[in-house]
Amino acid sequence: MIGDGRLVLVTGAASGIGEACARALAQDGFRALATDIAPPPPERRHADCIYWDAPFDVSDPDLVAREIEAIEARHGPIDGCVHAAGVLGRMSPAEKLRADVWRREIDVDLSGTFYVAQAVGRKMIARGRGAIVLVASITATTTSSAHAYSAAKAGVASLTRTLASEWGRRGVRVNAVSPGFTRTQGLERALQSGVMDEARMAESSAMGRIVEAREVGAAASFLICDRASAITGANLPVDAGFLAGVTWDPYGRARSQA
Ligand SMILES: NC(=O)c1ccc[n+]([C@@H]2O[C@H](COP(=O)([O-])OP(=O)(O)OC[C@H]3O[C@@H](n4cnc5c(N)ncnc54)[C@H](O)[C@@H]3O)[C@@H](O)[C@H]2O)c1
Repeated sequence: MIGDGRLVLVTGAASGIGEACARALAQDGFRALATDIAPPPPERRHADCIYWDAPFDVSDPDLVAREIEAIEARHGPIDGCVHAAGVLGRMSPAEKLRADVWRREIDVDLSGTFYVAQAVGRKMIARGRGAIVLVASITATTTSSAHAYSAAKAGVASLTRTLASEWGRRGVRVNAVSPGFTRTQGLERALQSGVMDEARMAESSAMGRIVEAREVGAAASFLICDRASAITGANLPVDAGFLAGVTWDPYGRARSQA
């Protein structure tokens, strides 16, 4: 089996992309350790995942370091980490964006990413092995009206390259996945608020659809496993061709409809 029972910590695993990453890892033979700020209710738990029920708030650096110690004491060395915890961005004109909204999104989506990568990275470099996957976004390389979120995700893409460069010779690979619009509970909330529209999201992508969370999970599990042993510092779009296709409209929508 690909994962060989190695332990992979997943953050934000009670919902959406994190939940799908934990499941993909478990199906690939890893021991997927699911953490979240609040544990999922019994009906959202999967028999193939291991649940860590203490709150794992990624925006609290001391708590993250403490919980990682406790996880290793209970389950052994963490071989991989998929960091999927995050809050989706609030959309607003820049001139109206409130400072508390800015701070929260930067705290969770950017600082939280660093705290988790730093805490697991310390353990991994001491052992000379490990793989980390950070969840960025297509907004890391495009623009959006979620100003703090986009800036945070651009920061995540930058951190991915920096940490990969820094830890490559210490045996630790660091990569990112950049999901396009992905069907999750988080996206569902944005759709229900009426701010966004699935048909328009789908229309912008080359494949004419949004992404399923399990597709992001499969990419994350690939980047963790040894088949990706020479891949580090990459930011892999999992976006149904959003980045490739988003510039197509100005050319007269001359897409092949076959
Ligand atoms: N859904 C999309 O279209 C999309 C696209 C690109 C990137 N992403 C990214 O994927 C990640 C997951 O998003 P999702 O759509 O699955 O959202 P989601 O809301 O379904 O899941 C996010 C999970 O993160 C947890 N979380 C939030 N704050 C936390 C904190 N401080 N500490 C620990 N856990 C916390 C939540 O409890 C939740 O379980 C986020 O980083 C998001 O930015 C999502």
